[in-house]
Amino acid sequence: MKVPFRRDRSGTTHAAAAPAAVPDGAVRVGPLSDVPEGAARRVHDRPPIAVLRHGGTVHAFEDRCPHAGALLSRGKVSGDSVTCPSHRTVFRVDTGKSSGEFSCRALRTYPVVTVDGTVYVDTAARSPRDARRGKCGDGTAADV
Ligand code: FES
Repeated sequence: MKVPFRRDRSGTTHAAAAPAAVPDGAVRVGPLSDVPEGAARRVHDRPPIAVLRHGGTVHAFEDRCPHAGALLSRGKVSGDSVTCPSHRTVFRVDTGKSSGEFSCRALRTYPVVTVDGTVYVDTAARSPRDARRGKCGDGTAADV
């Protein structure tokens, strides 16, 4: 593998980018082959996190539907979206955005890093939950 280099003002040559490091407190998912295309897999309980791979990219997201808490890892996967098995709200796993009758807030998503062929989820750098605290389509409150 060719590593890009750059020179600083003193003329010293450095590697342009440091190799990826495992973030502190990251959840180890396993080898990339453990994250198959087109299926969600729960990898952590507290907080609940699931992963899925779409187009070669691994996405990590909250494995708990904001409407009534169904496990999204048991939902139907279509491309970069997962459909809640209970009331069919659809969530995009890259942005967390939802659509459907009972959509009420976005899912949390988490950065994923791959180091030496092993996939990790950075639980400390999760996305903020959607700031909207409101009611779902059926009047239940979203768990923010
Ligand atoms: S529990 Fe997911 S949409 Fe109702």
